[in-house]
Amino acid sequence: MVDETSIFIGASRKPDDSYQRAEELLLRYGNRHGLVTGATGTGKTVSLQILAEGFSNAGVPVFCADIKGDLSGISMMGEAKDFLVKRAEQVKLDPYQFQEFPVIFWDLFGEQGHPIRATISEMGPLLLSRLMNLTEAQEGVMNIAFRIADEEGLLLLDLKDLQALLANIAERADELSARYGNVTKPSVGAIQRTLLVLEQQGAANFFGEPALRIADIMRTTRDGRGAISVLAADKLMMNPRLYATFLLWLMSELFEELPEVGDLDQPKLVFFFDEAHLLFEDAPKVLIDRVEQVVRLIRSKGVGVYFVTQNPLDIPEKVLAQLGNRVQHALRAYTPREQQAVRTAAETFRPNPDFDCATAITQLATGEALVSMLEDKGVPAIVQRTLIRPPSSRLGPITPDERRKIIAESPVAGQYDQVVDRESAFEMLQKKAKEAQDAEAQAQQQNSGGSRWTIPGFDDVLGTGNRRSSNRQTVAEAAIKSVVRSVGSSVGRAIVRGILGSLARGR
Ligand SMILES: Nc1ncnc2c1ncn2[C@@H]1O[C@H](COP(=O)(O)OP(=O)(O)OP(=O)(O)O)[C@@H](O)[C@H]1O
Ligand SMILES: [Mg+2]
Repeated sequence: MVDETSIFIGASRKPDDSYQRAEELLLRYGNRHGLVTGATGTGKTVSLQILAEGFSNAGVPVFCADIKGDLSGISMMGEAKDFLVKRAEQVKLDPYQFQEFPVIFWDLFGEQGHPIRATISEMGPLLLSRLMNLTEAQEGVMNIAFRIADEEGLLLLDLKDLQALLANIAERADELSARYGNVTKPSVGAIQRTLLVLEQQGAANFFGEPALRIADIMRTTRDGRGAISVLAADKLMMNPRLYATFLLWLMSELFEELPEVGDLDQPKLVFFFDEAHLLFEDAPKVLIDRVEQVVRLIRSKGVGVYFVTQNPLDIPEKVLAQLGNRVQHALRAYTPREQQAVRTAAETFRPNPDFDCATAITQLATGEALVSMLEDKGVPAIVQRTLIRPPSSRLGPITPDERRKIIAESPVAGQYDQVVDRESAFEMLQKKAKEAQDAEAQAQQQNSGGSRWTIPGFDDVLGTGNRRSSNRQTVAEAAIKSVVRSVGSSVGRAIVRGILGSLARGR
C-alpha cells in the first residue's frame, strides 16, 4: 500500500473524470511543508488523517491537534463501509486494508490525554506576551521580568512563580526602573490581572513540571511505525490564544532542540497545525516574522509543518510560499472575499492545461481536492484534480472507554500524571521576604536596645547595625543577594533564548 519512498494520496482524474494515475507525496520532500485547505465539510480532516497514516507507516512520528474529536478514530481499525470501499475502488487502492495506528493522546487539561506542560521559563516572554495579549509597554515589563529572573536565578516554572515575581517587581518598581527602564506599578498590575484571567481559563494546568520531553512525541514503535501524537483540542479551542501559543511553543522547542540534519530520505517528525488561521490572527508583525523564520529553518532539522485551514488567505504570503505539498479542497465563492480566496488559491498552483483551476476549486466534491506535491528536484507538480483515498483507520471519533484504554496502555503512562512542584521563584521569593523581615526585626531590636553609641550620620562607618528607615532597602537587598548566590548555580549560567524566545538548550 505504501512503498518505501512515498505516501499514496489518491488518484487524479482525466478531463472526462476517468482514472488518470496515483498521486503521491514523496517522503524525501516531506520536510518541505504543506497546506491542506477547504471550506467546512469538504474533507480536510480525512486528508490529514490519511497523510498522518502514511507518515506513521513510513516510520515518521506525527503530531497533530484534534479540534473536533473526529481525528481520534485514527487509533482504531477502520471498517469496510460501502462509501469507503467504493472510494478505494475509484482510486485503485487494492487491497484496501484496515489498520489501527499507534496513538498517544495529549491534553493540556489532562482530561482526554496525558497532561502536556511547559514551564514559564521555557515559554519565554515573547510567546507569553502573545498569550496574554499584552500591550507593548506591558511586554517591555515582561521582558524585564524575565531578565531579572534570569539574572537573579529565579526559576519560573508555573503561573504562581510568575505571580510572585511580578509582585516582587511591583515592590521594587522604582529601583528596577532606574536600572532597566520603565517598570510602572500600573503596568505590572495589569499583567498580574491578565494572569489571573489566564488562571481562571485553566491555563494553570499547562504551566509547570514535568514539562513535555520532545523525545516523547518522536517515538517509534517496535515494528517501525511512527507514533501519532493527538492533542485533544476541543476544549482548548475555547481559548484560541492558548491553543496558538502552545503550538508555536512546541514548534520552537522542536526547532531549538533538534540538530541540523539537512535533507533526509524522510522527515524526523511531521507537525500538523489545524485551524492555522489562529496562529496569525491579529498577531503582531514581529511574531509573524519569527514564525516565518522558524518555518523556513525547521526544514533542515527534518521537521515538516503542515498547515490546515479553511482559507489559504489565512496564511501570510511569506509562509504560504514555503508550503510545498498542497491539498486544496473545495471553496465557496459567493462573496467577493471568497472569490478573492479562490483566485489566490488557484494562482498558487502550477496550472494544468486541462482545466481552469479557479472554476475547479468551486466544483470539487467532498473528499476531492486539487493536489500538487513536490516532484523531482523539489519542483511543484502540475496541479491535478484528485480523489483522496479513504483512511485505513476509523472515520470519526472513538468512545471515552476506547480512549481511556489507549491512555492507560500508552508508553508515557504515569510519566506526566503527577505535577511536581519543586522549589522555584514562588518559594524563593517567599523565603527572601521572610529573611528580609527577620533581618529588619533584628536591626530594630538592636536599635531599641539603646546600649550602643550612635553618632548621627556615622552609623554605617561604625558598623553598629543602626539603620535609618532609608536604609531598609539595603538590608532586604543583602538578604536577596545571598539567596540568589546560593541558588544561582542550579539554574545554569548561560540563558540563551531562541527565535521565538523559548529557551535554547540541549537536554
Ligand atoms: N477521502 C475521503 N474518502 C471518503 N470519504 C471522505 C473523504 N474525505 C471526506 N470524506 C467524507 O466527508 C466527510 C467530511 O470530511 P471532513 O470531516 O474531513 O471535512 P472537514 O473539511 O474536516 O470539515 P470541517 O471543516 O467541518 O472540520 C467525512 O466524514 C467523510 O464522510
Ligand atoms: Mg475537520
